[in-house]
Amino acid sequence: MNKIMILSGAGLSAESGIRTFRDHNGLWENHNVMEVCSTQGWITNRSKVTHFYNDRRRDLEFKKPNHAHKVLTQLEHDYRGRVIHLTQNIDNLMEKAGAKDIIHLHGTLTDLRCEACTQIFNIDYAQQVGNEKCPHCGNTRIRHNVVMFGEAAPEYTRLYQSIKESTLFIAIGTSGTVIDIIPIAKEFKHSILIDPKRQNTASTFDPHNYIDEYFEHFIQKKAGDAMEDMMDIIKEHMNQ
Ligand code: APR
Repeated sequence: MNKIMILSGAGLSAESGIRTFRDHNGLWENHNVMEVCSTQGWITNRSKVTHFYNDRRRDLEFKKPNHAHKVLTQLEHDYRGRVIHLTQNIDNLMEKAGAKDIIHLHGTLTDLRCEACTQIFNIDYAQQVGNEKCPHCGNTRIRHNVVMFGEAAPEYTRLYQSIKESTLFIAIGTSGTVIDIIPIAKEFKHSILIDPKRQNTASTFDPHNYIDEYFEHFIQKKAGDAMEDMMDIIKEHMNQ
């Protein structure tokens, strides 16, 4: 039975007003990523990192799912069990749209994690103020639940599993900088890249120069505008 693997990135939430990382005016333009998103930065200045995620969590409360989030939620519902959606995004906009089975590869902004027993617990959009206690073990050494550069991303095993069991790979709104989408695309006969920009390949040794040259379909549009073309390809693939 045909199955879809979706890997989404910050571009999926861009039309909801959440900044991407590496676009012009992206998040990494006015933050030093290694100060706020690396284990070294966390060791050096915990409060700076906590403040960074508090700001992004406060901002998320008022963000709404966009058309692409809603179409992907409907897709999950219509093809229950045949769609695996792995996201690099830490926002909850797919869940706000009603999605149930999103795999967050880089963690979740609306949760905190106990550094003693690793229990994850929800705080919605509240600010982490430092007096939180783990509901499981009572420990007060609590951190954001976002995967930082320099530490393991446990859910990546789901990524490799999905490649094996899927027949169509769809990359939406990711530059491929952290998760290289070219090797994944090479594993698939059928694949779709959705991105308004043509991204160069990171490696200079590729015979091709652009990421999209490794995909069967390249929909060079914003996520919201790409949904109709994407659904046409999906319907044909799922009925084969
Ligand atoms: N629709 C679709 N794609 C878009 C849109 C849009 N409206 N706007 C921008 N994009 C594309 C950009 O062209 C770019 O290719 O989304 C991609 C965003 O790339 P990044 O900013 O690098 O974000 P992402 O790929 O998700 O980053 C991966 O890096 O910093 C870490 O942990 C962080 O999860 C993040 C990871």
